[in-house]
Amino acid sequence: MKKAYVSKQQVEEIVKKYPTPFYLYDEKGIVENAKAVKKAFAWNKGFREYFAVKATPNPKIMQLLQAEGCGFDCSSITELMLSKSIGACGENIMFSSNDTPAEEFVYADKIGGIINFDDITHIEFAREALGGKLPETISCRYNPGGVFQMSNGIMDNPGDSKYGMTREQLAESFKILKGYGVKHFGIHAFLASNTVTNEYYPTLAGQLFELAVELEKETGADIAFINLSGGVGIPYEPDKEGNDIAAIGEGVRREYERILVPAGMDDVAIYTEMGRFMLGPYGALVTKAIHEKHIYKEYIGVDACAVNLMRPAMYGSYHHITVLGKENEPLDHVYDVTGSLCENNDKFAIDRKLPKIDMGDYLFIHDAGAHGFAMGYNYNGKLWCSELLLKEDGSVEMIRRAETPRDYFATFDCLPEYAELDKIMKEFE
Ligand SMILES: Cc1ncc(COP(=O)(O)O)c(C=O)c1O
Repeated sequence: MKKAYVSKQQVEEIVKKYPTPFYLYDEKGIVENAKAVKKAFAWNKGFREYFAVKATPNPKIMQLLQAEGCGFDCSSITELMLSKSIGACGENIMFSSNDTPAEEFVYADKIGGIINFDDITHIEFAREALGGKLPETISCRYNPGGVFQMSNGIMDNPGDSKYGMTREQLAESFKILKGYGVKHFGIHAFLASNTVTNEYYPTLAGQLFELAVELEKETGADIAFINLSGGVGIPYEPDKEGNDIAAIGEGVRREYERILVPAGMDDVAIYTEMGRFMLGPYGALVTKAIHEKHIYKEYIGVDACAVNLMRPAMYGSYHHITVLGKENEPLDHVYDVTGSLCENNDKFAIDRKLPKIDMGDYLFIHDAGAHGFAMGYNYNGKLWCSELLLKEDGSVEMIRRAETPRDYFATFDCLPEYAELDKIMKEFE
């Protein structure tokens, strides 16, 4: 059963200062989970989790992970800058981008981050951008094509994905890069998303370890690390069992000892780039029921909408909902829980069994801590909500304020003189 990490009484206190909707992150959960990840891979001397910044790009959250030894996986220049702003640079940065603009390679190199090439053509592109000099350590992203299969079936379809290089291109890239003076190499692959099985990382690791042994022989490249990237999932549904990170770490160790150690490659570091597993369960969207509508179905309208959490609208994703204060009441009502966008897919839940919802009830939308707030947008002129951190001592800190209409208007340099923006804002404020 999924349990909210705040009570109705706590939320009633919080809203006195910070109105709904807001994201609420659980510091204790984040830190304990990060420690468990570190422990699961402690057998590997060079292990590092590079938190996927795209999942939860908030400096305060990143600092919590930084304190647990995490580096940062960035996909854009602003994510690189965000990492730099909290003092992360050098080998604590992995730049796993794709379709990358030249200036982003330049900035990644400037702050000493590890560049992870998505394509063989990026080598010349980046070399030119960097004035002919590539860094000593480079990673390349692998795409084996076909389908990624495990004992329990097809997990995903790399052959259809835009990322990474073919096996031949990878070998060719290593040779070219060696010729340009690169000394240390990494192999990266992300082959399946939100996997809820302890076998994903070990299976992927087995494939990448075998590839690493072959490539070292074939190209003479020194393979310094293997990056298993992200993809370790969380159980969004309440009856689903979650991953056991200790078993996952152990499974990767088994493959390491089976493949890399006998090949004399026992100094290869294991890197990960998890986002969802690091933050997903430790962030929730808290929203208030403000309307009920009885037409052909029963609707509950809340004060958040898909701009605050787009996963249900975009992928039809399930997010469990707890009606705070009604945890033990029977689930004897069936609702669509909707936001206010002029889009009929703006529904946090469809035909969901819930307790009777009264206006003013607070809904705790679970597992929104990763790829939640981060995927927000401004459609319909809707504004970004605030992010709050529930600290271990029970206090609450605002770690990003809600957007205001002034923020929305801030990029319109074209407003006419007569717009009297200040007057309009003051009427609102
Ligand atoms: C390159 C890369 N690394 C890491 C991640 C994080 O994945 P997840 O949050 O599923 O662990 C992503 C997700 O899109 C990604 O594209």
